[in-house]
Amino acid sequence: MAFDKARVLEQIQSTLAEIPLPGTPGNVVQAGLVQRVIAHEGEITLVVEFPPELTNQQGSVCERLEEEIGQIDGVQKVTVLHKKPESSAEESPTQGAQGPGPNTVGAQDIPGVKHVIAVASGKGGVGKSTVAVNLAMALQKIGKKVGLLDADVYGPSTPKMLGTEEDRPQATERETILPIESHGLQTMSIGYLLEEDSPVIWRGPMVTGLLRQFLFQVEWGELDYLVLDLPPGTGDAQLTLVQSLSLAGGVIVTTPQDVALLDVQRGIQMFQRTSVPILGVIENMSYFQCPNCDHVTEIFPGAGGEGISQRYSVPFLGQIPLEPTTAIQGDSGNPVMVSQPDGSLASTMISIAHQIAESLVKK
Ligand SMILES: Nc1ncnc2c1ncn2[C@@H]1O[C@H](COP(=O)(O)OP(=O)(O)OP(=O)(O)O)[C@@H](O)[C@H]1O
Ligand SMILES: [Mg+2]
Repeated sequence: MAFDKARVLEQIQSTLAEIPLPGTPGNVVQAGLVQRVIAHEGEITLVVEFPPELTNQQGSVCERLEEEIGQIDGVQKVTVLHKKPESSAEESPTQGAQGPGPNTVGAQDIPGVKHVIAVASGKGGVGKSTVAVNLAMALQKIGKKVGLLDADVYGPSTPKMLGTEEDRPQATERETILPIESHGLQTMSIGYLLEEDSPVIWRGPMVTGLLRQFLFQVEWGELDYLVLDLPPGTGDAQLTLVQSLSLAGGVIVTTPQDVALLDVQRGIQMFQRTSVPILGVIENMSYFQCPNCDHVTEIFPGAGGEGISQRYSVPFLGQIPLEPTTAIQGDSGNPVMVSQPDGSLASTMISIAHQIAESLVKK
């Protein structure tokens, strides 16, 4: 019988909700003990972090987790991985530039990078890359050190958006790769490694291997945020990435119409199932304001990102209007944050950057 991941993950969530953490008022999830659940076929990995005052419970709680989750239909093996508390994270043996090989289950930190944020959408063409590039710049504008990884190996677009298409990254003697700096951002993209128009047929393991190299073998340096521009959709490539990294949170980009919103649900569920906090929803191409008469036209019918954020109790970060300059400047390597730093898109992106920075501080 095929492994029904959605059902198993749902059952794991409800099982966890029944397991209390003695010494705290809530269950193991509410207490923040179980930070991530990863399902790879029937093999389940739980990433747990015990607060120092509760480490004496480690043995009994982990035994109970293994036993109860092991009883769920379809689960063959349960592994509990212990994450070290934040303060000693640098000494964690699971960290290192190299990291485990492709397909290894487990979430890892990138040395030197404080927060990794994934920008995702359920479907293509909604403006994810435009948002990722401008969000990275907005975070930089509010004083953060930022990197941008174009994780869309099928349709890399950030080199074009940043005007760095001709740049080629250098390898170091340590067999690591130096990122390309653009507008103050540290950036990496498969677009830097391919000749224009060269067809590449990617198979699953190649994509996973390449993305791992981009994450763990690029010399990102000290960054406050690394923004990931994910490929569109919620398939294997996205899931592998979301599972293999210690993500601080996910941002979902959508357009307002109903079809896109259905895709958003998939995006939200992808993050929820991998226990990645959702930082919020951004609605792009929300409306068009006529530059001559200021009349506002809503482009797409539908309930909009605000409705979905209420339904899933995730923050609504903001609305971005459809503006021809956004497309033109984006295509010419001059993102709006650079070409129109005082415009309305820039101020929306800065407000979103502040909201994200604040919600990550609160965590
Ligand atoms: N608010 C906007 N106003 C005008 N044009 C926009 C806006 N947002 C995005 N675009 C344009 O729409 C096109 C698609 O945007 P973008 O490449 O950012 O989407 P995407 O979701 O990353 O697409 P893909 O799924 O192919 O990766 C681009 O040409 C971009 O310049
Ligand atoms: Mg894109």
